[in-house]
Amino acid sequence: MRILGIESSCDESAAAVYDDRLGLLSHELFSQVDLHRVYGGVVPELASRDHVRRLLPLVRQALANADTPASGLAAVAYTAGPGLVGALLTGAALGHSLAYALGVPAVPVHHLEGHLLAPLLEDRPPPFPHLALLVSGGHTMLIVVRGLGQYEVLGETRDDAAGEAFDKSAKLLGLPYPGGPELARLAEQGRSGVFAFPRPMLDREGFEFSFSGLKTAVLLAVREREPDAQRRADIARGVQDAIVDTLVTKTARALEATRLPALVVAGGVSANHALREALAGAARLHRAEIYFPRLEFCTDNAAMIAVAGMARLQQGATAADLAIQARAQWPLATLQAPTSMR
Ligand code: KG4
Ligand code: ZN
Repeated sequence: MRILGIESSCDESAAAVYDDRLGLLSHELFSQVDLHRVYGGVVPELASRDHVRRLLPLVRQALANADTPASGLAAVAYTAGPGLVGALLTGAALGHSLAYALGVPAVPVHHLEGHLLAPLLEDRPPPFPHLALLVSGGHTMLIVVRGLGQYEVLGETRDDAAGEAFDKSAKLLGLPYPGGPELARLAEQGRSGVFAFPRPMLDREGFEFSFSGLKTAVLLAVREREPDAQRRADIARGVQDAIVDTLVTKTARALEATRLPALVVAGGVSANHALREALAGAARLHRAEIYFPRLEFCTDNAAMIAVAGMARLQQGATAADLAIQARAQWPLATLQAPTSMR
């Protein structure tokens, strides 16, 4: 059984073909980074228009690379939310129309479920249940994943997401969009401990995060005096250290509390090397196995939507009618396990 996955929730347009026996057959991606860079962030209307231009050629390419005619598809999965609603609508309209034209089911996929299931694309998939740290541009969550659709959110951010904290701090340092990877690069030349930025919520019990104070601290450091190259690198290092430290401490606490034997780290920020290293150390200490998606599947992509769509399809989840689903807000905890698994 083969499924086409379509992703268009933010600023990457992507398509992928996944086979339930052979695994991932192809994945294509076009990043709109160059389009949005001059504005310093994603411009939603421009994102939607560019998805309209890019998606169909990407779908054609993904099908060709998978050596699969459209008639060979058993279903079409698309990201139905959360995300920018206009951007979501482009992929949803394409996914639903294709499914209708081919006479196959359309499978609306939750973007975060896609991130959570991305490690299933690897040779060594994680066992269930496991603890997941989901860190992206819009979300920071610690989740107990018992199985498909069985997500218990232990804690999340009260304000900015980890990726947002990277991006906003990068902007204050004058780095180009998207700031996260740029800041991580600059941090390599910085010295640890020169700037001790706040690590909020660490002294409190529980698994909640807060990153909004970080940008204020960075703003003050930048304003105090015009930073030279070394000072900028030291600030970047201080930001990365604060974010990594906070994420690792809370994750270790959650491993301790749940005693789960496996940790999955997913979402765009899981591409950060310092974070990967520190989490691997914490997992070793707690005798938990750690699982990451490969780097290109940490950030937004369609392979994770195809694999999540396949999991949902196999459990019988398809859109009941022709109504296109696109939800800007869609809490992960409202997702349910397929009826057959409840
Ligand atoms: O999962 P994702 O691609 O999109 C969302 O669903 O949000 O995550 C994007 C986020 C951005 O904030 C980006 O700056 C951050 O992930 N990011 C990184 C790195 N690569 C991507 N942050 C820190 N270090 C990185 N290497
Ligand atoms: Zn994402």
